[in-house]
Amino acid sequence: MRFHATTSFRCDFGIAFDIDGVILRGRVPIGGSPQALRRLYGNSGELKVPYLFLTNGGGVPETKRAKELSELLGVNIMPSQVVQGHSPFRNLLKKFENEFIIATGKGDPALVMSEYGFKKVLSVEEYASYFENIDPVFQYKRWKTTPISDTKTPSMPRCDVSSERIKAAFVVSDPVDWGRDIQVLCDVLRSGNLPGDANRSQPPLYFAADDLEYQAAFPTKRLGLGAFRTALESIFNRINPKSLEYVSYGKPNPFVFKNAEALLRQLQSSSCLDHSENNGMSELHPFRTLYMIGDNPSVDIKGAQQTGHPWFSILTRTGVFRGNDNDAEFPADLVVDTVEEAVDFILKREC
Ligand code: G3P
Ligand code: MG
Repeated sequence: MRFHATTSFRCDFGIAFDIDGVILRGRVPIGGSPQALRRLYGNSGELKVPYLFLTNGGGVPETKRAKELSELLGVNIMPSQVVQGHSPFRNLLKKFENEFIIATGKGDPALVMSEYGFKKVLSVEEYASYFENIDPVFQYKRWKTTPISDTKTPSMPRCDVSSERIKAAFVVSDPVDWGRDIQVLCDVLRSGNLPGDANRSQPPLYFAADDLEYQAAFPTKRLGLGAFRTALESIFNRINPKSLEYVSYGKPNPFVFKNAEALLRQLQSSSCLDHSENNGMSELHPFRTLYMIGDNPSVDIKGAQQTGHPWFSILTRTGVFRGNDNDAEFPADLVVDTVEEAVDFILKREC
Protein backbone atom coordinates (compact mmCIF):
# COMPACT_ATOMS: atom_id res chain seq x y z
CA MET A 1 0.00 0.00 0.00
CA ARG A 2 1.42 3.40 -1.03
CA PHE A 3 0.30 6.55 0.76
CA HIS A 4 -1.05 9.50 -1.12
CA ALA A 5 1.08 12.59 -0.55
CA THR A 6 -1.67 14.16 1.51
CA THR A 7 -1.98 11.20 3.91
CA SER A 8 1.66 10.26 4.44
CA PHE A 9 3.33 10.72 7.81
CA ARG A 10 6.92 11.14 8.80
CA CYS A 11 7.03 7.86 10.73
CA ASP A 12 9.02 9.36 13.57
CA PHE A 13 6.15 9.66 16.01
CA GLY A 14 3.86 7.33 17.91
CA ILE A 15 0.88 7.50 20.24
CA ALA A 16 0.02 5.92 23.62
CA PHE A 17 -3.66 6.02 24.54
CA ASP A 18 -4.95 5.73 28.07
CA ILE A 19 -8.17 3.67 28.07
CA ASP A 20 -10.45 4.54 31.03
CA GLY A 21 -11.65 8.12 30.70
CA VAL A 22 -10.11 8.64 27.25
CA ILE A 23 -11.17 5.77 24.96
CA LEU A 24 -13.92 4.15 27.07
CA ARG A 25 -16.16 4.75 30.04
CA GLY A 26 -16.94 1.27 31.28
CA ARG A 27 -17.52 -0.48 27.99
CA VAL A 28 -18.79 2.55 26.09
CA PRO A 29 -16.52 4.34 23.58
CA ILE A 30 -16.18 8.07 24.35
CA GLY A 31 -14.77 11.25 22.83
CA GLY A 32 -15.07 10.00 19.23
CA SER A 33 -12.51 7.24 19.97
CA PRO A 34 -13.57 4.83 17.16
CA GLN A 35 -13.28 7.59 14.52
CA ALA A 36 -9.99 8.83 15.98
CA LEU A 37 -8.45 5.32 15.85
CA ARG A 38 -9.68 4.69 12.31
CA ARG A 39 -7.55 7.61 11.16
CA LEU A 40 -4.43 5.70 12.16
CA TYR A 41 -5.06 2.98 9.56
CA GLY A 42 -4.75 2.97 5.77
CA ASN A 43 -7.51 2.18 3.30
CA SER A 44 -6.80 -1.54 3.45
CA GLY A 45 -6.86 -1.58 7.24
CA GLU A 46 -3.06 -1.54 7.62
CA LEU A 47 -1.58 0.28 10.59
CA LYS A 48 -0.08 3.60 9.46
CA VAL A 49 0.80 5.15 12.79
CA PRO A 50 2.47 3.14 15.57
CA TYR A 51 0.15 3.29 18.53
CA LEU A 52 -0.70 1.30 21.63
CA PHE A 53 -2.95 1.38 24.68
CA LEU A 54 -1.19 2.18 27.93
CA THR A 55 -3.68 1.50 30.70
CA ASN A 56 -3.37 0.92 34.42
CA GLY A 57 -6.44 -1.28 34.19
CA GLY A 58 -6.51 -5.02 33.51
CA GLY A 59 -7.75 -8.32 34.87
CA VAL A 60 -7.77 -10.27 31.59
CA PRO A 61 -4.89 -11.50 29.41
CA GLU A 62 -3.69 -9.07 26.74
CA THR A 63 -4.93 -11.40 23.97
CA LYS A 64 -8.47 -11.23 25.33
CA ARG A 65 -8.33 -7.46 25.96
CA ALA A 66 -7.14 -6.85 22.37
CA LYS A 67 -10.12 -8.85 21.08
CA GLU A 68 -12.59 -6.97 23.32
CA LEU A 69 -11.15 -3.59 22.31
CA SER A 70 -11.26 -4.51 18.60
CA GLU A 71 -14.96 -5.36 18.93
CA LEU A 72 -15.82 -2.22 20.88
CA LEU A 73 -13.79 0.17 18.73
CA GLY A 74 -14.17 -1.35 15.26
CA VAL A 75 -10.45 -1.59 14.39
CA ASN A 76 -8.06 -4.53 14.46
CA ILE A 77 -6.03 -4.27 17.66
CA MET A 78 -3.14 -6.68 18.21
CA PRO A 79 -2.20 -8.02 21.68
CA SER A 80 1.19 -6.30 21.25
CA GLN A 81 -0.70 -2.98 21.27
CA VAL A 82 -2.16 -3.59 24.73
CA VAL A 83 -0.05 -2.72 27.79
CA GLN A 84 -1.99 -3.20 31.03
CA GLY A 85 -0.97 -2.35 34.59
CA HIS A 86 -0.02 -5.98 35.21
CA SER A 87 1.85 -6.55 31.91
CA PRO A 88 5.28 -5.98 33.58
CA PHE A 89 4.53 -8.82 36.03
CA ARG A 90 5.92 -11.02 33.22
CA ASN A 91 9.35 -9.72 34.15
CA LEU A 92 9.06 -11.43 37.54
CA LEU A 93 8.73 -14.86 35.96
CA LYS A 94 12.35 -15.84 36.58
CA LYS A 95 11.87 -15.21 40.27
CA PHE A 96 8.50 -16.89 40.82
CA GLU A 97 7.89 -19.22 37.86
CA ASN A 98 7.67 -22.40 39.97
CA GLU A 99 6.80 -20.80 43.30
CA PHE A 100 3.42 -20.78 44.99
CA ILE A 101 1.87 -17.33 44.49
CA ILE A 102 -1.59 -15.83 44.98
CA ALA A 103 -3.31 -13.22 42.80
CA THR A 104 -6.41 -11.10 43.20
CA GLY A 105 -8.52 -8.53 41.33
CA LYS A 106 -11.50 -8.24 39.01
CA GLY A 107 -11.59 -10.49 35.93
CA ASP A 108 -9.42 -13.59 36.05
CA PRO A 109 -6.20 -12.75 37.92
CA ALA A 110 -4.96 -16.37 38.13
CA LEU A 111 -5.44 -16.85 34.39
CA VAL A 112 -3.52 -13.62 33.68
CA MET A 113 -0.59 -14.86 35.75
CA SER A 114 -0.65 -18.38 34.35
CA GLU A 115 -0.66 -16.97 30.79
CA TYR A 116 2.52 -15.09 31.70
CA GLY A 117 4.05 -18.46 32.60
CA PHE A 118 3.66 -18.62 36.41
CA LYS A 119 3.12 -22.29 37.14
CA LYS A 120 1.65 -22.32 40.66
CA VAL A 121 -0.82 -19.52 41.07
CA LEU A 122 -4.09 -19.49 42.97
CA SER A 123 -6.62 -16.68 43.01
CA VAL A 124 -7.24 -15.28 46.50
CA GLU A 125 -10.82 -16.45 46.00
CA GLU A 126 -9.70 -20.06 45.53
CA TYR A 127 -7.08 -19.82 48.28
CA ALA A 128 -9.71 -18.53 50.74
CA SER A 129 -12.08 -21.37 49.83
CA TYR A 130 -9.70 -23.85 51.51
CA PHE A 131 -10.11 -22.18 54.93
CA GLU A 132 -13.53 -22.41 56.51
CA ASN A 133 -14.65 -19.12 58.12
CA ILE A 134 -11.54 -17.21 56.96
CA ASP A 135 -14.00 -14.49 55.91
CA PRO A 136 -16.26 -14.06 58.97
CA VAL A 137 -19.02 -12.32 57.00
CA PHE A 138 -19.05 -14.68 54.05
CA GLN A 139 -22.54 -15.97 54.81
CA TYR A 140 -23.94 -12.44 54.60
CA LYS A 141 -22.64 -11.85 51.08
CA ARG A 142 -25.53 -12.09 48.73
CA TRP A 143 -23.68 -12.05 45.43
CA LYS A 144 -23.27 -15.23 43.46
CA THR A 145 -19.81 -16.77 43.23
CA THR A 146 -18.72 -19.28 40.61
CA PRO A 147 -17.98 -22.61 42.30
CA ILE A 148 -14.19 -22.79 42.58
CA SER A 149 -14.14 -26.17 40.80
CA ASP A 150 -15.39 -24.36 37.63
CA THR A 151 -12.71 -21.68 37.72
CA LYS A 152 -9.56 -23.76 38.26
CA THR A 153 -7.10 -23.66 35.42
CA PRO A 154 -6.95 -27.34 34.40
CA SER A 155 -3.24 -27.46 33.49
CA MET A 156 -2.16 -25.84 36.76
CA PRO A 157 -0.19 -28.07 39.17
CA ARG A 158 -2.06 -28.26 42.45
CA CYS A 159 -0.73 -26.30 45.39
CA ASP A 160 -0.90 -27.78 48.85
CA VAL A 161 -2.26 -24.80 50.73
CA SER A 162 -1.79 -26.49 54.07
CA SER A 163 1.97 -26.89 53.80
CA GLU A 164 3.37 -24.78 50.98
CA ARG A 165 4.63 -21.29 51.71
CA ILE A 166 3.25 -18.43 49.65
CA LYS A 167 6.23 -16.76 47.97
CA ALA A 168 4.47 -13.62 46.68
CA ALA A 169 1.08 -11.91 46.40
CA PHE A 170 -0.05 -9.99 43.30
CA VAL A 171 -2.88 -7.46 43.12
CA VAL A 172 -3.53 -7.76 39.39
CA SER A 173 -6.53 -5.42 39.05
CA ASP A 174 -9.15 -3.64 41.18
CA PRO A 175 -10.24 -6.12 43.89
CA VAL A 176 -13.92 -7.01 43.90
CA ASP A 177 -14.31 -8.11 47.53
CA TRP A 178 -12.15 -5.63 49.46
CA GLY A 179 -13.13 -7.02 52.89
CA ARG A 180 -12.16 -10.62 52.08
CA ASP A 181 -9.01 -9.59 50.22
CA ILE A 182 -7.77 -7.30 53.00
CA GLN A 183 -8.40 -10.04 55.57
CA VAL A 184 -6.69 -12.79 53.55
CA LEU A 185 -3.77 -10.59 52.45
CA CYS A 186 -3.21 -9.45 56.05
CA ASP A 187 -3.22 -13.14 57.08
CA VAL A 188 -0.70 -14.32 54.53
CA LEU A 189 1.50 -11.23 54.60
CA ARG A 190 1.73 -11.22 58.39
CA SER A 191 2.42 -14.90 58.73
CA GLY A 192 4.36 -15.42 55.52
CA ASN A 193 2.27 -18.50 55.06
CA LEU A 194 -0.90 -19.82 56.59
CA PRO A 195 -3.49 -17.70 58.31
CA GLY A 196 -2.58 -17.65 62.01
CA ASP A 197 0.91 -19.12 61.47
CA ALA A 198 3.82 -17.79 63.55
CA ASN A 199 5.25 -14.45 62.43
CA ARG A 200 7.74 -14.71 59.60
CA SER A 201 9.08 -12.22 57.11
CA GLN A 202 6.53 -10.69 54.78
CA PRO A 203 6.40 -12.24 51.28
CA PRO A 204 6.79 -9.68 48.46
CA LEU A 205 3.58 -7.86 47.48
CA TYR A 206 3.09 -6.36 44.01
CA PHE A 207 0.36 -3.99 42.81
CA ALA A 208 -0.35 -3.57 39.08
CA ALA A 209 -0.99 0.17 39.53
CA ASP A 210 -1.61 2.78 42.18
CA ASP A 211 -4.41 5.02 40.85
CA LEU A 212 -6.28 6.55 43.77
CA GLU A 213 -9.25 7.28 41.53
CA TYR A 214 -10.19 6.65 37.91
CA GLN A 215 -13.04 7.26 35.50
CA ALA A 216 -15.35 4.26 35.14
CA ALA A 217 -18.94 4.16 33.85
CA PHE A 218 -20.36 6.18 36.81
CA PRO A 219 -20.41 9.94 36.12
CA THR A 220 -17.90 10.82 38.86
CA LYS A 221 -14.51 9.31 39.72
CA ARG A 222 -14.35 5.88 41.37
CA LEU A 223 -11.85 4.49 43.89
CA GLY A 224 -9.04 2.57 42.21
CA LEU A 225 -6.18 0.24 43.08
CA GLY A 226 -4.34 2.98 44.97
CA ALA A 227 -7.36 3.35 47.26
CA PHE A 228 -7.33 -0.40 47.93
CA ARG A 229 -3.59 -0.25 48.61
CA THR A 230 -4.13 2.64 51.05
CA ALA A 231 -6.82 0.68 52.91
CA LEU A 232 -4.74 -2.50 53.10
CA GLU A 233 -1.59 -0.64 54.14
CA SER A 234 -3.31 1.37 56.82
CA ILE A 235 -4.95 -1.71 58.38
CA PHE A 236 -1.82 -3.86 58.07
CA ASN A 237 0.31 -1.18 59.74
CA ARG A 238 -2.13 -1.03 62.67
CA ILE A 239 -2.07 -4.76 63.34
CA ASN A 240 1.52 -5.62 62.47
CA PRO A 241 4.70 -4.31 64.15
CA LYS A 242 6.49 -3.87 60.81
CA SER A 243 5.12 -1.63 58.05
CA LEU A 244 3.80 -3.12 54.83
CA GLU A 245 6.37 -3.46 52.07
CA TYR A 246 5.19 -3.42 48.48
CA VAL A 247 6.03 -2.43 44.91
CA SER A 248 3.52 -0.67 42.64
CA TYR A 249 3.76 -0.90 38.86
CA GLY A 250 1.82 1.06 36.21
CA LYS A 251 1.87 4.71 35.19
CA PRO A 252 3.33 7.17 36.28
CA ASN A 253 6.50 5.04 36.68
CA PRO A 254 8.96 6.14 33.98
CA PHE A 255 9.89 2.50 33.23
CA VAL A 256 6.34 2.02 31.93
CA PHE A 257 6.86 4.85 29.42
CA LYS A 258 10.32 3.56 28.44
CA ASN A 259 8.86 0.09 27.89
CA ALA A 260 6.04 1.66 25.82
CA GLU A 261 8.66 3.41 23.69
CA ALA A 262 10.41 0.06 23.01
CA LEU A 263 7.08 -1.54 22.04
CA LEU A 264 6.17 1.40 19.81
CA ARG A 265 9.55 1.01 18.14
CA GLN A 266 8.62 -2.58 17.21
CA LEU A 267 5.27 -1.38 15.88
CA GLN A 268 7.07 1.38 13.99
CA SER A 269 9.10 -1.20 12.10
CA SER A 270 5.98 -3.01 10.93
CA SER A 271 3.78 0.02 10.25
CA CYS A 272 6.38 2.29 8.66
CA LEU A 273 8.70 -0.11 6.82
CA ASP A 274 6.03 -2.39 5.40
CA HIS A 275 4.05 0.44 3.88
CA SER A 276 6.79 2.87 3.03
CA GLU A 277 6.91 4.37 -0.42
CA ASN A 278 10.32 2.71 -0.80
CA ASN A 279 8.70 -0.68 -0.39
CA GLY A 280 10.47 -1.69 2.76
CA MET A 281 13.71 0.14 2.08
CA SER A 282 13.14 3.27 4.12
CA GLU A 283 15.20 3.89 7.22
CA LEU A 284 13.62 3.96 10.67
CA HIS A 285 14.21 7.22 12.47
CA PRO A 286 14.33 7.53 16.24
CA PHE A 287 11.09 8.88 17.62
CA ARG A 288 10.97 12.65 17.55
CA THR A 289 7.72 12.70 19.51
CA LEU A 290 5.66 10.17 21.42
CA TYR A 291 2.23 11.41 22.45
CA MET A 292 0.61 10.29 25.69
CA ILE A 293 -3.13 10.99 25.61
CA GLY A 294 -4.56 10.65 29.11
CA ASP A 295 -7.28 11.90 31.44
CA ASN A 296 -5.47 11.70 34.77
CA PRO A 297 -2.91 14.46 35.49
CA SER A 298 -1.19 12.67 38.40
CA VAL A 299 -0.84 9.42 36.46
CA ASP A 300 -0.74 9.95 32.68
CA ILE A 301 0.65 13.48 32.51
CA LYS A 302 3.04 13.16 35.45
CA GLY A 303 4.44 9.94 33.95
CA ALA A 304 5.05 11.44 30.51
CA GLN A 305 6.65 14.53 32.08
CA GLN A 306 8.92 12.56 34.41
CA THR A 307 10.12 10.41 31.53
CA GLY A 308 10.87 13.48 29.41
CA HIS A 309 11.98 13.34 25.76
CA PRO A 310 10.38 12.25 23.44
CA TRP A 311 7.10 12.29 25.39
CA PHE A 312 4.50 15.02 24.76
CA SER A 313 1.46 14.94 27.04
CA ILE A 314 -2.13 15.62 25.99
CA LEU A 315 -4.85 15.84 28.63
CA THR A 316 -8.50 15.25 27.70
CA ARG A 317 -11.57 16.47 29.56
CA THR A 318 -13.48 13.17 29.29
CA GLY A 319 -12.35 11.52 32.52
CA VAL A 320 -10.66 12.36 35.82
CA PHE A 321 -9.70 15.88 34.66
CA ARG A 322 -12.63 18.25 33.98
CA GLY A 323 -11.01 21.69 34.41
CA ASN A 324 -11.33 24.64 32.08
CA ASP A 325 -7.63 25.41 31.89
CA ASN A 326 -4.69 23.13 32.59
CA ASP A 327 -4.01 21.05 35.69
CA ALA A 328 -2.19 23.18 38.26
CA GLU A 329 0.10 20.46 39.64
CA PHE A 330 0.88 18.44 36.51
CA PRO A 331 0.16 20.74 33.55
CA ALA A 332 0.00 18.90 30.22
CA ASP A 333 1.68 20.12 27.04
CA LEU A 334 -1.81 20.41 25.55
CA VAL A 335 -5.36 20.23 26.91
CA VAL A 336 -8.22 19.21 24.59
CA ASP A 337 -11.84 18.17 25.03
CA THR A 338 -11.67 14.70 23.51
CA VAL A 339 -9.34 12.03 22.13
CA GLU A 340 -10.66 12.83 18.65
CA GLU A 341 -9.42 16.39 19.04
CA ALA A 342 -6.07 15.10 20.29
CA VAL A 343 -5.59 12.82 17.26
CA ASP A 344 -6.62 15.65 14.95
CA PHE A 345 -3.96 17.88 16.51
CA ILE A 346 -1.28 15.16 16.19
CA LEU A 347 -2.01 14.32 12.57
CA LYS A 348 -2.04 17.98 11.55
CA ARG A 349 1.26 18.50 13.34
CA GLU A 350 2.92 15.42 11.87
CA CYS A 351 1.61 15.45 8.29
O1 G3P B 1 -8.71 0.27 36.86
C1 G3P B 1 -8.37 1.11 35.81
C2 G3P B 1 -7.78 2.39 36.21
O2 G3P B 1 -6.97 2.26 37.32
C3 G3P B 1 -7.17 3.23 35.15
O3 G3P B 1 -7.17 2.85 33.82
O4 G3P B 1 -6.91 3.23 31.39
O5 G3P B 1 -7.20 5.17 32.95
O6 G3P B 1 -5.07 3.90 32.95
P1 G3P B 1 -6.55 3.85 32.73
MG1 MG C 1 -7.56 7.03 32.50
